[in-house]
Amino acid sequence: MYVPDKVVTNHDLAKIVDTSDEWIVERTGIRERRFSAPEQASSDLALIAAQRALDMAGIGPEDIDQIVVATTSPDRYLPSCACTVQAKLGATRAAAFDIYAACTGFIYGLSVARGAIGTGMADTVLVIGVEQLSRIMDFKDRNTCVLFGDGAGAAVLRPCTPGDGIRAVSIHSDGMIGDLLEIPSGGSARPASHETVDRREHYIRMKGKELFKVAVRGMDDSLRKALAEAGLTPADLELVIPHQANLRIIDAVRERTGLPPERVIVNIDRYGNTSSASIPITLDEVVRAGRLKPGDHVGFVAFGGGITWGASVATWTLPVPAGANGTGRAHVAAEVPRT
Ligand code: ACO
Repeated sequence: MYVPDKVVTNHDLAKIVDTSDEWIVERTGIRERRFSAPEQASSDLALIAAQRALDMAGIGPEDIDQIVVATTSPDRYLPSCACTVQAKLGATRAAAFDIYAACTGFIYGLSVARGAIGTGMADTVLVIGVEQLSRIMDFKDRNTCVLFGDGAGAAVLRPCTPGDGIRAVSIHSDGMIGDLLEIPSGGSARPASHETVDRREHYIRMKGKELFKVAVRGMDDSLRKALAEAGLTPADLELVIPHQANLRIIDAVRERTGLPPERVIVNIDRYGNTSSASIPITLDEVVRAGRLKPGDHVGFVAFGGGITWGASVATWTLPVPAGANGTGRAHVAAEVPRT
């Protein structure tokens, strides 16, 4: 994982919009988030996370067959963020492409990697979740600008024996309710113009209340589906790593699955919602803290713009990494069964 150095607290935001630390903590669980430096692009954050993941996996850029970048905040529309990361990383053999599934992006990325590795198309897939949401938030809209942060996480996925590694992925979408979370302009439907800029249509707009209900239902449902596909129940999960959108959403999903709080990982207080980066960032902290050992079952579950939602269940195969230092700045390697 990599998060920028700049810490922005709720008190900092209360100086620019009409909000308060109490409101943000009570409604979301967020206390602070990280914002990138002006000279950093999403690919720069992704690059650092990727290099750390490669170090941990003990491989070099030339070993990568595919680079999959999940992001809603790419450097630019063309070329893809993944191709920019490929160039910066020097991964000359890799095919590189972006996945555009908002906060569910990392789980969509796992599904792509699982397919590519499981069918023998690829041996080594680098899946990255990266966001610079600070660049696409409206700092005049208190409904959204208190929620999001910047960061990146990366995982190297490689083949393993069936029954281990990524055992199930359950992904879903409902485009009919896509306008619950949107950036209205800047695409082909409404290209950028002076008017769209004046109307602040290049920033995230959100119907938070409606999204909340969809999120809880979708996360609970997809986690159950992934568990059923893996032949497991919630009680079999040592850990669940949920997308960090709102502590109340995480709590509601936890209550529905009946899991005790210590098995459901939360770090939203420190990073806010980093969209597709939140699951790999959290996984990295968990691995770095030595909380996953071989044979443990771990669930990943998310929802986001699209609307998209999904879950994955894995049986962890990797030992606690050498050099685990508890700093929270680490990297992740995972494996995928080949059938
Ligand atoms: N500070 C103070 N007051 C605020 C703020 C703020 N930052 N934001 C909203 N309010 C006010 C509202 O204006 C409203 O005031 P009113 O009653 O006078 O109109 C009041 O607080 C309540 O607002 P609600 O929207 O009802 O608050 P709610 O309890 O639903 O919490 C929240 C809002 C946190 C956004 C919640 O609905 C939520 O988390 N929804 C899910 C959103 C989400 O996770 N989005 C990320 C999607 S992931 C992705 O793909 C990027």
